[in-house]
Amino acid sequence: MILRDKSNGYDDLAEVFMRMRNTRIGPSTVLEWSQTLVPHGSILELGCGNGVISQVLIEAGFSLYGIDASPKMVRAFREQFPDAQAECAAAEDSNFFDRTFDGIVAWGLMFLLQDDVQRLVIAKAAKALEPGGQLLFTSPRDAITWQDSITGRESRSLGAKTYRQLLEAQGLIVTEDRLDEGDNYYYTASKPKAVL
Ligand SMILES: C[S@@+](CC[C@H](N)C(=O)[O-])C[C@H]1O[C@@H](n2cnc3c(N)ncnc32)[C@H](O)[C@@H]1O
Repeated sequence: MILRDKSNGYDDLAEVFMRMRNTRIGPSTVLEWSQTLVPHGSILELGCGNGVISQVLIEAGFSLYGIDASPKMVRAFREQFPDAQAECAAAEDSNFFDRTFDGIVAWGLMFLLQDDVQRLVIAKAAKALEPGGQLLFTSPRDAITWQDSITGRESRSLGAKTYRQLLEAQGLIVTEDRLDEGDNYYYTASKPKAVL
């Protein structure tokens, strides 16, 4: 049986990615976002790679759960963070550790996925958030396609308007969408607290 690569080309190029990843891009934005979460709460990182984003969250005292479809990335993640939970699986297939989270982050993942898979992952993430929980993911503001700088494969953004509609359709409140220091456009949304 031939298993399809669910990492969208990243497993083959894991070493290249880890060498080229600019570690200054992303962590400070995510750290700032994490301050809106329950202190020391639980965070799921989808497409965690070798943990550049996870690292600041672990250091900030959160319980980190990482999922990545590349076995090489997950191996590197586990070596660096032996106390964090890690699963080697595609975000679209995973059962997200059969639990809910105070925060879910997907930095550099969403646009690697096919249109229908992005929609599925957004719906799964919305369900896996605790009431009051927060979601953050990156994808360009405009609905565009381009070649991924690492793999050369086609990436696609559904665009801010569609992302907003998808998030709202899942009952989330879009809190922000803007550019970070590395020109990554990111979206944040929160799940309303349960009405008593
Ligand atoms: C651009 S890297 C970002 C890694 C990390 N979030 C960071 O900011 O350093 C994209 C990551 O998504 C993973 N990935 C690709 N497709 C995936 C999928 N369907 N499910 C889970 N992870 C996936 C890749 O293996 C890779 O580690």
